[in-house]
Amino acid sequence: MNYNTKISSKSIIPKHVAIIMDGNGRWANEKGNIRITGHKAGIKSVRNSVRFAITNKISSLTLYAFSSENWKRPKQEISSLMDLFIFALDTEVKTLHNSNVILKIIGDTTPFSEHLKDKIFKAQDLTKNNVGLHLNIAANYGGRWDIVNSVKQIYKKIKNGDFPIDEINEKTINNHICMNDQKNVDLVIRTGGEQRISNFLLWQIAYAEFYFTNVLWPDFNEIIFQDALDAFSKRKRRYGGTENK
Ligand code: IPE
Ligand code: IPE
Ligand code: MG
Repeated sequence: MNYNTKISSKSIIPKHVAIIMDGNGRWANEKGNIRITGHKAGIKSVRNSVRFAITNKISSLTLYAFSSENWKRPKQEISSLMDLFIFALDTEVKTLHNSNVILKIIGDTTPFSEHLKDKIFKAQDLTKNNVGLHLNIAANYGGRWDIVNSVKQIYKKIKNGDFPIDEINEKTINNHICMNDQKNVDLVIRTGGEQRISNFLLWQIAYAEFYFTNVLWPDFNEIIFQDALDAFSKRKRRYGGTENK
């Protein structure tokens, strides 16, 4: 089996998979290395996950790379992570583009350096007309920020008289939240053993299924991805209804 392995056609493939890529620091520590070596090793898992998602015709893959709370980390780790982000854009974007991937960065990019912002802008612009996998990288992303941001945009429209307040409903929030052009999240995978959301997607996971694994992100591979898809395939999604409707 390899990353191009296609799972059995009987399986139900989630349209949108979101992954909390956790455990890089512990992976490095276990090997007696500094934390950033774990982040660097994690790039391979990202690459392989993208390949697996393309092969299995998943429509959207959303990866949690840096949370709005990760600024609490030591300055040195943050700056290494920013450098790594630039490096990953430099090395991966061409292949992503050739693979028809639409790359989007979700999150508040305003605190990023001009250099990084420029790379992000160019990568998104280059891939925006592609028609393959939607790859969303969550960087300085927080689920609460996303909802607040949506509310701010709606408020602006109300203030300008472009939107009647009585017409605000779930769809209104949906239309202003990140990834509103894509399917709802069906499956959230978290590596690294923790069983929490850590302010990742909140609105978008209302009816998502969850798959937690102790495997640390740099060790994530297609077998674990497939295990997650197999588990998803066996879940009975009722959306509040009953099985027989
Ligand atoms: C996840 O790995 C990557 C980021 C949050 C940037 P961690 O760095 O959180 O690794 P652990 O959880 O400390 O092992
Ligand atoms: C979540 O991991 C964020 C990312 C994977 C980018 P954290 O390591 O920051 O989560 P906590 O602090 O354990 O909740
Ligand atoms: Mg962690």
